[in-house]
Amino acid sequence: MRFKNKVAIISGAASGMGLLTARCLAEEGAKVVLTDISADAVNAAVEDIRKSGGEAVGIEVDVRKYQQIKEATNLALEKYGAIDMMLNFAGGAEGRMLNCPKPFHEMPVEVLDWGIDVNLKGAVYFCHAVLGTMIKQKSGVIINLGSVTGVEGSAGAVNYSAAKSGIIGLTKALALCGAPHGVRACCVSPGPVLTRPGMANMKTRLGRAAEPQEVVDLILYLCSDKGAFITGSNYMIDGGRTCGGMD
Ligand SMILES: NC(=O)c1ccc[n+]([C@@H]2O[C@H](COP(=O)([O-])OP(=O)(O)OC[C@H]3O[C@@H](n4cnc5c(N)ncnc54)[C@H](O)[C@@H]3O)[C@@H](O)[C@H]2O)c1
Repeated sequence: MRFKNKVAIISGAASGMGLLTARCLAEEGAKVVLTDISADAVNAAVEDIRKSGGEAVGIEVDVRKYQQIKEATNLALEKYGAIDMMLNFAGGAEGRMLNCPKPFHEMPVEVLDWGIDVNLKGAVYFCHAVLGTMIKQKSGVIINLGSVTGVEGSAGAVNYSAAKSGIIGLTKALALCGAPHGVRACCVSPGPVLTRPGMANMKTRLGRAAEPQEVVDLILYLCSDKGAFITGSNYMIDGGRTCGGMD
């Protein structure tokens, strides 16, 4: 029960690693506030966690809308009285998420905007909305999801690459803002993760993609008291892909 009575807000919590993290935090005693763009999916995830005995609430949040983000932080404070952890999972490559398999220079501007707005600006908004509370509490942890793509780039996901590089800078700057107040910020940059079968095709030195639980276990460690001396770092969890030499 590493997270007993700790309060976590999670963006992109209705599927993939965000949902798994929400479940794991709740299993270890945290009170979790699930947010995602689909209210139905958020409600289903909350129901599932409650059935297993966890404490959870959910709220529809499009991370491009600051007002909705404020509603989520207000919900956490009104219902649970604190924000101990903020985990920014909402995101994805713009071409895939918006079903626009075009080269960068042919993508409509709406697709470009989605790539930056969801992957970077959404995390900026959530960090901005929680930091004041964490500073007042003199404690808190922010986890931002980067990607191997933010380090090596991808011709097929240019704005995603730009946004995920930005997430590293955002995390370092937040670590500097938070450090005098006991607030930490860490970035976790996965290589391919099997939240969908297609990721098995992306090469790594270890010859496989990660199980979602492997990434979530790292995130839980960084959130826990064991990670108390870690801030401002970007953790690659990529099966050695960024050692170089991969196609
Ligand atoms: N799966 C991988 O191989 C991989 C690799 C590196 C990084 N990542 C990053 O990890 C994070 C989680 O990835 P995943 O594979 O679990 O993805 P996922 O697609 O299962 O989850 C992403 C979630 O974000 C939500 N979302 C999309 N647009 C949103 C918006 N405007 N507002 C709020 N929520 C929105 C989706 O509804 C979804 O629930 C993402 O940031 C992703 O870029 C994933």
